[in-house]
Amino acid sequence: MSVGIDLISFYTSRYYLGLESLAQARGVDYEKYRSGLGQEKMAIPPPDEDVITMGASAAKPILDQIDVNDVELLLFATESGVDQSKAAGLFVHGLLNLSNRCRVVELKEACYSGTAALQLAAAQISQSLHSTKALVIASDVARYDLGSPGEPTQGCGAVAMLVTLNPRILALDPEAGFHAADVMDFWRPSYRDEALVDGKFSTKVYLDTAVSAWEHYVERSGRTISELYRFCYHLPFTRMGIKAHERVLQAAEGSNDTAKHASEAVSEGFAYTRDTGNSYTASLFESFACLLDNNSELAGKRIGLFSYGSGCMGEFFSGVVDPEYQKHLFSADHKAMLEDRTQLAYQEYEDIFNLKVPEDGWKYVFAQYRTGPFRFGGIEEHKRVYEAVET
Ligand code: COA
Repeated sequence: MSVGIDLISFYTSRYYLGLESLAQARGVDYEKYRSGLGQEKMAIPPPDEDVITMGASAAKPILDQIDVNDVELLLFATESGVDQSKAAGLFVHGLLNLSNRCRVVELKEACYSGTAALQLAAAQISQSLHSTKALVIASDVARYDLGSPGEPTQGCGAVAMLVTLNPRILALDPEAGFHAADVMDFWRPSYRDEALVDGKFSTKVYLDTAVSAWEHYVERSGRTISELYRFCYHLPFTRMGIKAHERVLQAAEGSNDTAKHASEAVSEGFAYTRDTGNSYTASLFESFACLLDNNSELAGKRIGLFSYGSGCMGEFFSGVVDPEYQKHLFSADHKAMLEDRTQLAYQEYEDIFNLKVPEDGWKYVFAQYRTGPFRFGGIEEHKRVYEAVET
């Protein structure tokens, strides 16, 4: 019996900054961002949006289609968690009215933990004696210091995936290749809101990790690269996907003439990330959702996926797309959401960036911005208050 992704839904903020505005403010040639990094916009969460509201908003279209009582596992992957103790998934559990008979936990390993959540959920569902379902949510806000090299790669987004037996989107292959190492390429001490990154080093570690995880995947599966039809990568910025696939092709084929093939194999998964920026744990799955929404010929095809989390942890895995996958996508909703966003002026972006959640324990009610079906309404006695948005 197969196990994997039964439904996949993507959500991002209703606000963005065009990178032309950022380039102008920083005195940088916009082409560096547009063609050098492969980015055009960065999604900016308003003050009443965070990883909880984005994760719940991504999951809602899925839960609207099923009996919520069937969800017995909720794994919430993030590296921008809002509490050092309480799992982000428990706020979501409340907002989505899930059953009390549900295991809920938050997972962290930089941008990798969405993949860990997916694999753990698949293992749990395979072993379950009951016909249960798991909900995996990957949700993040990518923040770097103003004016730093990472700034144009900022962004935010969430992906929710329902994991079941006989999935209607992607049946996961049992083989995967891993690579773990203790490396300081990107990190965020608990006292900082912005990540610290050794940018050039992090791209090198990412590429070396992709090759190592690919080689382990080949050892485990015995597959050759020609058995995989398309590839999705963790995308801190979309050009990284091309660079990574070129390296994997070189390792697989021993050829240096890989640029054209690399672009063909990965670029159908770029459009959403180009317009949202990095969504850390959600990024790989945002790319996969984009590929599904934009390629109608994936039925029965095997897709390769590479997940990377700084620190570092990489995993190459794969799955086969269900013949009926197009009937179960949220493509129209994804595209409508991306088209219906509000562009911020540079100063509005900087003002939002500099806002902080009050830390004095008094009661605050936040102004209402455009969000999805849920918002972060305020804070009282250090407790975050979430609410459904009236439509
Ligand atoms: N027109 C077109 N391309 C231009 C350009 C211009 N005017 N100016 C620069 N470029 C190209 C560069 O040649 C480079 O391309 P290449 O890598 O193919 O050579 C690209 O734009 C980026 O320029 P670079 O000078 O390397 O950028 P940077 O050092 O300012 O920042 C990162 C790049 C990745 C280090 C930075 O964005 C970062 O720190 N990001 C966060 C960490 C991250 O995402 N790590 C990835 C692994 S998770």
